[in-house]
Amino acid sequence: MSTAISPTAYNYKVVRQFAVMTVIWGVIGMSLGVFIAAQLVWPELNLGMEWTSFGRLRPLHTNAVIFAFGGCALMATSFYVVQRTSQVRLISDSLAAFVFWGWQAVIVAAVITLPMGFTGSKEYAELEWPIDILLGIVWIAYAVVFFGTIVKRQTKHIYVGNWFYGAFILVTAMLHIVNSAAVPVSLFKSYSAYAGATDAMIQWWYGHNAVGFFLTTGFLGMMYYFVPKQAERPIYSYRLSIVHFWALITLYIWAGPHHLHYTALPDWAQSLGMAMSIILLAPSWGGMINGMMSLSGAWHKLRTDPILRFLVVSLAFYGMSTFEGPMMAIKTVNALSHYTDWTIGHVHAGALGWVAMISIGALYHLLPKVFGRPQMHSVGLINAHFWLATIGTVLYIASMWVNGITQGLMWRAVNEDGTLTYSFVEALEASHPGYVVRMIGGAFFVAGMLLMAYNTYRTVRAAKASEYEVAAQIPVGVAH
Ligand code: HEM
Ligand code: HEM
Repeated sequence: MSTAISPTAYNYKVVRQFAVMTVIWGVIGMSLGVFIAAQLVWPELNLGMEWTSFGRLRPLHTNAVIFAFGGCALMATSFYVVQRTSQVRLISDSLAAFVFWGWQAVIVAAVITLPMGFTGSKEYAELEWPIDILLGIVWIAYAVVFFGTIVKRQTKHIYVGNWFYGAFILVTAMLHIVNSAAVPVSLFKSYSAYAGATDAMIQWWYGHNAVGFFLTTGFLGMMYYFVPKQAERPIYSYRLSIVHFWALITLYIWAGPHHLHYTALPDWAQSLGMAMSIILLAPSWGGMINGMMSLSGAWHKLRTDPILRFLVVSLAFYGMSTFEGPMMAIKTVNALSHYTDWTIGHVHAGALGWVAMISIGALYHLLPKVFGRPQMHSVGLINAHFWLATIGTVLYIASMWVNGITQGLMWRAVNEDGTLTYSFVEALEASHPGYVVRMIGGAFFVAGMLLMAYNTYRTVRAAKASEYEVAAQIPVGVAH
């Protein structure tokens, strides 16, 4: 499907490629999630092989959903938004193509090496050093295309969505480069350049900001474009969006130590992380409210528009998980929640409810536009997807709350003579029903993704390559 390069048209080819791959990686990464959830219900599913064991497939799941699904969604939408709001084509088609193929190469390398057991053993930064270097190069190319396009823009100011995407790109580069510093001992084995508590601190500075900048700031960029677009209303408060941006990026970077409460990390650092996390509630909710209020006067559209429903419900889950997070960062609450399924529930309230739902909503808006179709093949299927995703998310997080609090309370229960009331296995047995419910919730979510894959396939099949360039024409004088 090659299209002629035209300075009067946007580069939608790379957007189409990333958008389709988002759906494909979404199905794969989430199916893996359901599989590892099933392993926690039926341990026999580890199949007695190291490659299929929970310990190896779990990082494969996290890498596939965060970097393959989430990453492709961010790249598809950022390339779409930066062109449309800057009214200019991406600065280089070949560099954009390099970003697409380079990113897929990183993902394929992860899919091969993680089940084989090659790992740097830092959570969310497991990939070994040669892949890390490739990732760094691709990311720099991504930054060049994105910021280069902003420099070349035809509009006077930089739309706020691009500020969020820009911060996500810059900070992710910084985190990746600092945290991945390692001493290679062979082609597939390296050791962290840091040691002891310093290593832990740098890892969770990375880990928390992977949440803050990859899973949050980038998706807020998405929110600032697609919510007003789909609601056909301007953003509620442009001033609030600027305050939101600066407050969010200033605070997030300090919150990492809440992952290391009651560890060898200095106490003051833990308290600082806790305090910053609590303050973080304010900008998080500021952003959520800004998105929600953009629906003022358009709430009735929720009755008929399932895409808008995805976007609004994602904001509700964003609000919920950014309330829960600061609570869990309080040391006394963390004493109960840490190591339990409560954390897993919190993660997926953010990951399924916020990250996946906003991406799905944005993609349903974007896919017909970049394929030159009036709308998706079936609005009914989008609606069915919405309910499967919502019910699936609720089943997932509710079961993990129940499990988490049960585990926390059972682990800390002591008899009068000071011995533990429950053995670990008893807490595990009490968790089993929750694992079944989580697996069912996950299966609901994946069923919705399969509907999306079918809907996308039918939409793409109905599209004609000859019409792509027409759809990509840059309208003169209107930023959109
Ligand atoms: C059908 C959907 C999904 C299912 C069934 C699922 C299932 C799971 C399971 C079973 C685990 C391991 C939990 C444990 O170790 O006890 C896990 C971990 C994780 N998943 Fe998912 N997942 C799904 C979707 C997603 C998505 C879309 C994302 C991100 C965008 C995500 C991000 C993560 C993360 C970050 C962890 C690690 C959590 C931690 O270490 O605290 N998952 N998932
Ligand atoms: C104001 C916002 C937030 C705060 C203050 C916050 C705070 C926390 C805290 C205290 C933990 C538990 C740490 C532990 O006990 O080990 C945690 C874990 C986690 N949160 Fe959040 N959270 C926030 C928002 C989010 C969002 C929106 C997402 C996802 C999109 C998310 C993803 C995660 C992940 C993946 C983990 C697990 C990390 C791991 O141990 O592997 N958080 N968060």
